[in-house]
Amino acid sequence: MLGDLSVSSIAFGGAGLTFAEHLDDARREELLRVAVDAGFTLIDTALAYSTADERHHNERLVARALGSSIRDGSVTVISKGGHYRDGDRFPVDGRPEAIAADCRGSLEALGVDAIDLYLLHKTDPEVPLEESVGALAALREQGLVKRVGVSNVSRDELRRAQSVTVIDAVENRLDLSRHDSWAVLSYVTKIGMPYLAYSPLSVVSDWSRFAANEFVRTLATERGASPQQLVLAWLLVQGATVIPITGATREETIRLSAAASEIQLTAEQAVLLGDEIRASAA
Ligand SMILES: NC(=O)c1ccc[n+]([C@@H]2O[C@H](COP(=O)([O-])OP(=O)(O)OC[C@H]3O[C@@H](n4cnc5c(N)ncnc54)[C@H](OP(=O)(O)O)[C@@H]3O)[C@@H](O)[C@H]2O)c1
Repeated sequence: MLGDLSVSSIAFGGAGLTFAEHLDDARREELLRVAVDAGFTLIDTALAYSTADERHHNERLVARALGSSIRDGSVTVISKGGHYRDGDRFPVDGRPEAIAADCRGSLEALGVDAIDLYLLHKTDPEVPLEESVGALAALREQGLVKRVGVSNVSRDELRRAQSVTVIDAVENRLDLSRHDSWAVLSYVTKIGMPYLAYSPLSVVSDWSRFAANEFVRTLATERGASPQQLVLAWLLVQGATVIPITGATREETIRLSAAASEIQLTAEQAVLLGDEIRASAA
């Protein structure tokens, strides 16, 4: 669930499609439709997922590929502002007026009257976080976004954001080696807030080691699953509100990742898999 909305248990992130230079826009749109056909009903995008030439590139792709499904509510969209592309640089701008302007641009690019979930993409070190989050709250009050959240936050930043307004979701990358990363996950899942775990496959860095492990190989064979699907299934059991946001640029990987939500792990398998994921993370 994303608050009161029922969504696919794994989300699809479109950033990789924009940044994959070997793809043209027609193919990128086709792959977004493949993602929805495979079962993803939650799509993650952002202003920052732009090409050097086209601001809001990814949001425009999402609108062209999935516009009618977004408007009829069968697909839910997350977008983010306060971070943008300028040539090869990706600056942050967390000033309230910048966030309001980013959101207006995203509404226009997505072709909607209100964005389902809108996040501050990254904290701007030059702007107090409370001011940036205040801008999100104002957008929600104006009805331009339905839910608000923060991304790439520490436990302390999340606390500060919550002191300003109701935070509906967090979008972070789970870093197994950082205590604070686990602290955010643990807190968020305890209070029932959605935890959008982006770049989920990055929890493993040594895939050869992970895939060659005997326990992983046996479990993969038993479940007819790939090592990547097992990692997604493991993330799903790290908290009732965890929603991994996976990305892929091929039809095969899109369908495999969508199917990972069907893999049920026993509690013991999840613990043993976690041990191997940690051993392959360093
Ligand atoms: N909030 C933030 O700051 C932030 C930052 C980064 C990402 N994100 C979000 O998270 C999304 C996903 O990030 P990501 O692309 O790094 O995610 P990821 O799913 O961890 O990694 C994607 C990579 O894994 C491969 N892959 C995906 N599924 C696979 C499978 N079933 N089997 C084998 N390989 C597989 C893909 O290969 P192919 O390309 O060959 O298919 C691609 O190279 C982004 O699109 C974005 O929406 C948010």
